Amino acid sequence: MTIEEFEKFTPDHIVCECFDVTLESLLDAIKAGYNTLDTLMDETDAGTACELCQSRETDEDEDRELHLEEILEYAKVKGF
Ligand code: FES
Repeated sequence: MTIEEFEKFTPDHIVCECFDVTLESLLDAIKAGYNTLDTLMDETDAGTACELCQSRETDEDEDRELHLEEILEYAKVKGF
């Protein structure tokens, strides 16, 4: 996913449907230091149920548009 594609998602986009976790709350958690997949999942609960929102690999049928790993990658590129 390119930076431009990523930035089309709005802050209120629900990334994790199991727990209604938004993109904004995930970015806030990453900025607060929960910047690995495990710590981000522990802090927000995102990714801890069906796991589809974790990564493209755990979401083979592409049921989710955006995944935790892509958000972590974006944050790394942006220097969060
Ligand atoms: S959509 Fe995130 S754990 Fe199910």
